[in-house]
Amino acid sequence: MAKLWGGRFSLESSSLLEEFNASIFFDKALWREDIEGSKAHAQMLGKIGVLTPTEVESIINGLDQIASCIQKGEFTFKASDEDIHMAIESALIERIGDVGKKLHTARSRNDQVALDFRLYVLRYNRKIRTSLLELMEILLGIASEHTQSIMPGMTHLQHAQPVNFGFHLIAWVCNFKRDIERLEDDYKRNNFCPLGSGALAGTPYNNDRIYLSQTLGFAAPTINAMDSVSDRDFALDMLYSLSMIMMHISRIAEELVLWNTQEFAFISLSDAYATGSSIMPQKKNPDVPELLRGKSGRVYGSLMGLLAVMKGLPLAYNKDTQEDKEGVFDALKNVSICLQIAKECLKSMTIRVDNMYKMAKRGHLSATDLADFLVRQCNVAFRDAHHITGQVVALAEERGVDISDLEEEEIMKVDSRIKAGVKAVLSLESSMNARDTLGGTSSKQTQAQIQVCKDFIQQAASRLCESENLSKGA
Ligand code: ARG
Repeated sequence: MAKLWGGRFSLESSSLLEEFNASIFFDKALWREDIEGSKAHAQMLGKIGVLTPTEVESIINGLDQIASCIQKGEFTFKASDEDIHMAIESALIERIGDVGKKLHTARSRNDQVALDFRLYVLRYNRKIRTSLLELMEILLGIASEHTQSIMPGMTHLQHAQPVNFGFHLIAWVCNFKRDIERLEDDYKRNNFCPLGSGALAGTPYNNDRIYLSQTLGFAAPTINAMDSVSDRDFALDMLYSLSMIMMHISRIAEELVLWNTQEFAFISLSDAYATGSSIMPQKKNPDVPELLRGKSGRVYGSLMGLLAVMKGLPLAYNKDTQEDKEGVFDALKNVSICLQIAKECLKSMTIRVDNMYKMAKRGHLSATDLADFLVRQCNVAFRDAHHITGQVVALAEERGVDISDLEEEEIMKVDSRIKAGVKAVLSLESSMNARDTLGGTSSKQTQAQIQVCKDFIQQAASRLCESENLSKGA
């Protein structure tokens, strides 16, 4: 069949070229955006007098019919159509006849694909923000129930100081807060409309780019046509933000894997989100967090892949850029699933508070509190206090108990400078609650942090709602 661009060609495309050149089998994912863009373009052409109102109407109707045909799965995508843009244009001509041939006036596939892909990425930007907000809410819900649940806080994966479980979860939540802020920044930076840039230099028609931008829900048209058709920063921004999300997810996943071991036993994953072994009948494996951890690798891969594609490309459009999409589609699909399953996995896990507490009793986690007590209540210089504390730790070791379980009299016998009241500061609860500075782990501070995060969620949700509404105007 003759190509839409086939006028100057005398030979048919080889089927090898057709397969190699075609992007239809993956860029069909852009059909919604393509139709949305074409409708706006047709309306704009009507507005500037290039199309009559009847022509606009017929094009819009044709495009709507194609949309419902694709939606119902009744559309045949063929390699010979090359890409989604030409597939839809051909289908339109087939449906409405010669009027359909006017749609591509004052437009190029270069500005068309720049528009479609950008709209797609922006739509997912909103979707991913929604999922992150939901995940944050789940974590905050669990955190609120555990502001008194003591666990060992770690550095170097060694017991360090007692913290509460809620406090640990808020640390995770803070990662996602930054992820949302990053996506919001990306959105703002890239919410500009490339349509009307033509092939690279603008068009000789009087394309109303402000109308296009408003109709499609952008903040404004892009500044420079050459940049508009060659810029893929919006896709790279998205891949970087997705990589950061996955880096955060993978750190959480690692902790879930550890905590779910016999050795930690801080949580147990629900049967619904764990798997068995094909040979060892007793096993229950944390495949979900392992996959969450593993999938971060492929998302980073997509980021590296697109950076490599874009490196050294001369302006303006080059076909290399067709390689921009699959990695982004894959990353978006996987991150969406990961956020979904991470939510379910966290919601359904059992938290074994008793084991956390038991483990916090190992390693003399309140030793620093004893040193601080000696400095503040007993007028001992810190270096001496450190030494005396070491002796008390040695005593506890000798008895085979945690420092917090020694009797007051025993402790006082270690050094005459130790005053009564020492036992009270050694309990894990008092050690945790002593860290009452802004951002600290005391139950009170943890609750305050939960509130800050809740306020953030509310504000971020209303910002999201605003951008949803603007884009729905499209
Ligand atoms: N399928 C192409 C892509 O994804 C669309 C743009 C084609 N433009 C061109 N001048 N060949 O990049």
